[in-house]
Amino acid sequence: MPWLTDENRHWQEKARTVAEKVIRPLAADYDRKQEYPWKIRDAIAEAGLFKVWIPKTYGGAGEGPQSVMNLCLVVEQLSRACGGVGVLFAVNALGSFPLLVGGTEEQKQKYLPKIASGEKLCAFCLSEKTAGSDAQALKVRGVQDGDGWRIHGEKKWTTNGGAANLYTVFAVTDPTAKGKRISAFLVETGDEGFSIGKVEDKMGIRCVPVVETRFEGVLLGTDRLLGGRPGYGFKHAMETLDLARPGVASQAMGLAQGALELATIYTSKRSQFGAPVNSFQMVQQILADMAMRTEAARQLIYAAAHAIDTGSPLVTKFSAMSKCFATDTAMQVTTDAVQLFGGYGYMKDYPIEKYMRDAKITQIYEGTNQVQRLVIARNLIRESANFSFLSEFIPTENQHVYEG
Ligand code: CAA
Repeated sequence: MPWLTDENRHWQEKARTVAEKVIRPLAADYDRKQEYPWKIRDAIAEAGLFKVWIPKTYGGAGEGPQSVMNLCLVVEQLSRACGGVGVLFAVNALGSFPLLVGGTEEQKQKYLPKIASGEKLCAFCLSEKTAGSDAQALKVRGVQDGDGWRIHGEKKWTTNGGAANLYTVFAVTDPTAKGKRISAFLVETGDEGFSIGKVEDKMGIRCVPVVETRFEGVLLGTDRLLGGRPGYGFKHAMETLDLARPGVASQAMGLAQGALELATIYTSKRSQFGAPVNSFQMVQQILADMAMRTEAARQLIYAAAHAIDTGSPLVTKFSAMSKCFATDTAMQVTTDAVQLFGGYGYMKDYPIEKYMRDAKITQIYEGTNQVQRLVIARNLIRESANFSFLSEFIPTENQHVYEG
């Protein structure tokens, strides 16, 4: 990409080296065992990659309030080799963005340097059994207890649960309020009453745990209330998702890129009817569509990351567009790649079927693609107020009859 900066390229190259030297050779094994790859986590930490989205002031490498462009470049490279590792890495950004958008200075100083070094791994506890797309329908409660708060309830689909040692937990603190009902809390492994429940058996991203998390009267001091004030949890959750969704998009696009590369090589080696299958126009068309879609996703992600890093007011829309487009692309491209591999593509002997399994979740988590389309449409409708000067070119209510 000609317009990437030297710093962007530096992190891209570092991530690529870890992906090819450490991740790719181990990916199938961890997928089979459904086991957290501590060896890979160590290699990522050693390369300094956990620093990329955290500002320099807090021990990170980011120039601004965050660096989502570098985050995206790293996630893309890791995911080219393994989509599970892509999210294993990106979920730490998701779990720590609430601190960046809403934490007190003290909370930032306490946690961010340890996240940047890889010492602390994070998880984001928003979803519940009955609160998925409707993220305001939470049942987990935060109840004031003396100077502190007690957390009661259960979360569902906590990615990185068990491996992480810092959990950002969203809970209802004022059930009768119209707005400002929800607050975010920082829960640590070892807090009394906090435990890991069911560990999910998953279709893809099998090297990263997804679990239920339980909070049985976990007592927290006010220093664990994000931002030190109740009622801002939902806003912080939404702002966090705006920053994090290009990361999921990059996981998806990295998977698409990885699958495209494998399919391109395979179709050049595989011969049928006396010729390499990539000489057939039907195969060429599939390859060309895969490449076009993947590149379009990449450009949209970089545009979203750039919008975030430069503080554009269009962040919410761009973030949702990148997530939706890139993850739909990944599902299409990885499915096409399996098709091009034919019978071999369907077998677990080769890595290509894993790309398709890993891709599916990207259309679901961090907001289903139906929710992304809703967010995009809501923002478009809001922006349409800027185009009122076009009113004279559209029919008014009493002009429905053809007058020509
Ligand atoms: N930034 C800042 N504030 C925002 C915002 C944003 N992007 N979006 C909404 N808000 C604010 C609104 O301004 C509004 O504030 P006021 O009350 O002050 O007016 C408030 O939040 C409520 O907004 P809405 O009325 O738009 O909220 P809603 O209930 O209609 O929900 C939604 C909107 C977009 C559907 C939202 O619920 C949503 O994003 N749902 C999907 C949740 C999600 O992504 N879950 C994934 C969890 S993470 C995960 O997948 C697990 C993992 O570990 C990987």
